[in-house]
Amino acid sequence: MTRTIDLAVIAGDGIGQEVVAEGLKVLDAALQDVTVRTTPYDLGAARWHRTGETLTDEDLAAIRQHDAILLGAVGDPGVPSGVLERGLLLRLRFELDHYVNLRPSKLFPGVVTPLGDPGEIDFVVVREGTEGPYVGNGGAIRVGTPHEVANEVSVNTAFGVERVVRDAFSRAAARPRKKLTLVHKHNVLVHAGHLWRRTVERVNAEFPDVTVDYLHVDAATIFLVTDPGRFDVIVTDNLFGDIITDLAAAVTGGIGLAASGNVNPDGTAPSMFEPVHGSAPDIAGQGKADPTATVLSVALLLAHLGHDDAAARVERAVAADIAGRGTTPRTTSEVGDALAAAV
Ligand code: NAI
Ligand code: MG
Repeated sequence: MTRTIDLAVIAGDGIGQEVVAEGLKVLDAALQDVTVRTTPYDLGAARWHRTGETLTDEDLAAIRQHDAILLGAVGDPGVPSGVLERGLLLRLRFELDHYVNLRPSKLFPGVVTPLGDPGEIDFVVVREGTEGPYVGNGGAIRVGTPHEVANEVSVNTAFGVERVVRDAFSRAAARPRKKLTLVHKHNVLVHAGHLWRRTVERVNAEFPDVTVDYLHVDAATIFLVTDPGRFDVIVTDNLFGDIITDLAAAVTGGIGLAASGNVNPDGTAPSMFEPVHGSAPDIAGQGKADPTATVLSVALLLAHLGHDDAAARVERAVAADIAGRGTTPRTTSEVGDALAAAV
């Protein structure tokens, strides 16, 4: 646990700016005797339009020096698809070795879920963040012709799979239900799938009190809707994790609540915490954005830095706020103020 938090802040574009302001408000309110120092980084669509830059080596070197990163959202409709995803977001994840993409899914009392009566939902997805089909190992030839060849290779290393599986086991071991579900498709993706399966079986020996389950990814989408209560910790690869975490966010109340952490568990570089949603150009600048996902990301940040009590206070404040939400819409800063006061 640190007495100061030296935070890099990438508020980004659109509602990113609005929700991060509220997240910082709650962060300050949650901590006693801890100084938060923030350094803003001008990154995202606005910077790209102005300079053509996504993330320079200088930006990266400066960001590396901080204890953690809080990110709002980046992007606007004027930036071609892939530019900021590859040049900024994925580059940060890869360069800072964020091999654990952490996405908790909890159904807070009072939240409207599209499911009829799902019961209690409280699980966390540990998605691999540095390998899989997202590494850019591919290429295309004869583009635009009937003979085009397009390859996107899924990279799975024994090292990469083992470290994320180990992280998932230790998270499962620390939770009351101690259950880990591997999600893959090892009946079809036999090479990668069996590496994941064997790794889970082997690491399980070190965590004998953790129960292990396996689901093919297509079956996992069924159970996320019909029986989400069966999940405790899910470990999966980069692509499957990307898809099932959006489904998980949808069943637990949607994008305004979904938080995430891009975690470097070894601490060799700062971890990055962000709401799952984007810059929402349709509501940007109107004070309509729900800052709750960012505030819950701040709770993950606090827990990661060892401030567990403060993290728990933030989560309790969010739970109480959600339970008491009426039908009158509140502005972004009204929600932030209420959460900061409750913390
Ligand atoms: P989006 O998440 O920005 O918006 C989808 C829908 O959800 C919109 O109707 C929006 O108004 C609503 N929404 C999102 N966050 C909300 C919040 N906190 N409170 C209330 N409503 C909220 O996804 P979209 O529209 O696909 O992308 C918009 C831009 O954001 C694009 O440029 C995209 O590339 C970028 N993006 C950036 C991400 C990031 O920085 N990590 C992640 C996803 C998208
Ligand atoms: Mg996604």
